[in-house]
Amino acid sequence: MTIIWMCLIAYLVGSLSPGLLIGKIFFHKDIRNFGSGNLGATNTFRVLGRNAGIVVTLLDMAKGIFGALLPVLFHSEVHGIIVGLFAVLGHVFSIFLKFKGGKAVATSAGVVLAVNPVLFTLTAVAFFSVLYAFKYVSLASILASIINFIAAVPFGDWIITGISFVIMVIVIVRHKANIGRIMNHEEPKIKWM
Ligand code: G3P
Repeated sequence: MTIIWMCLIAYLVGSLSPGLLIGKIFFHKDIRNFGSGNLGATNTFRVLGRNAGIVVTLLDMAKGIFGALLPVLFHSEVHGIIVGLFAVLGHVFSIFLKFKGGKAVATSAGVVLAVNPVLFTLTAVAFFSVLYAFKYVSLASILASIINFIAAVPFGDWIITGISFVIMVIVIVRHKANIGRIMNHEEPKIKWM
């Protein structure tokens, strides 16, 4: 299969929204109308509870893993991150949701896990350290995306570094409203850590 087909399939799979589907099918709720209004795992935890939140986290990550893993196994890490980026783009700009979507965090995490588990581990440690210290998922997501980009540099491939930069920019831009709420002390903190 050519890389263009892989990118297209990854984009379509990334466009599926587990948060929206699980909310509508099992809870008869559209999570876009509750909490932060985001379609991601954090708002699923907030609106639909822990079990649904865990499932949506895993499914959103699975979209990134699905996109990146086969190209990694059959081609290279570079192929993996390119195709994985399309899964992230689907998640953020879903073709099924008028090009709206989530904030890129869990799907990007899945891509990084498939492409480079060492980089994923560093980024996950950064994420949970910031989350433990400040209790804001959004701040942990933003800082983890920055650290993921910085940590990607020594791995030495400019495409992986470049796409890590693109993902960081997407994550930061998509968290614009969260940044405003953090500065106004209005961003909800997690209570379970
Ligand atoms: O993964 C998204 C998270 O960083 C923020 O989500 O719902 O608090 O805007 P939310």
